[in-house]
Amino acid sequence: MRLDKYISHATEYSRAQVKKLLRDKRVSIGTAPETATLIKKADHEVSEQDVVLLDGVVIEIPSTSYLMLHKPAGYVCANTDSENPTVLDLIGNAPADLSIAGRLDKDTTGLVLLSNDGKWVHRIISPRRECPKIYHAELDQPINDEVIKQFASGFFLKGDIKETKPAVLEVLAGNTVSVMISEGRYHQVKRMFAACGFHVVALHRVSIAGITLDADLEPGQYRTLTDAEVNSIGLQENV
Ligand code: URA
Repeated sequence: MRLDKYISHATEYSRAQVKKLLRDKRVSIGTAPETATLIKKADHEVSEQDVVLLDGVVIEIPSTSYLMLHKPAGYVCANTDSENPTVLDLIGNAPADLSIAGRLDKDTTGLVLLSNDGKWVHRIISPRRECPKIYHAELDQPINDEVIKQFASGFFLKGDIKETKPAVLEVLAGNTVSVMISEGRYHQVKRMFAACGFHVVALHRVSIAGITLDADLEPGQYRTLTDAEVNSIGLQENV
């Protein structure tokens, strides 16, 4: 792997910041820390045997990855797809075993969490945990109190054998609403609105289980989750 990529994966530094670290002679490489030599070239290839040091301290790429991605429209939440680009195409050097913790439709934008920690992903998607997910939806017409009550009390969706769990629906402005659901049924938000006579014009996921999409991430960008974000899932009841 290229040295600049290695450092940005092993630390919180962006690729631009990594270039400065290299220029400032803060990075050295060797087969052992004692024999490491200064390297300034961003495209230097790091081999399996190499140790990389930043300011004399060994840095390593963590074996588990926890990522948040700002999904743009047009990408599918799948590991491979013969027709469409996938969210994994947006992740540089994506670990082969990365799983998506809750899929979005191709035209839905917003927060996607990914990890190769299977237990962590399971805690998010397990129906028994009822992780809350908040979406912003633009509708074809304004909602009324009747729909808010219907979402709050739950109702049957066509073909489903259980009523929807209570969902919290709020008007943000005009035809734009916020909806919090604690399930992950197929096309759930669009189907809930359709059942009440509304069409979802645009759908954007804002948060999952209290982890909120970073406002600094442009569509298509991703970042590693902070320890606090990762642990916020682990700290909840283990179901
Ligand atoms: N509900 C939907 O209808 N679509 C999504 O992408 C996510 C939730």
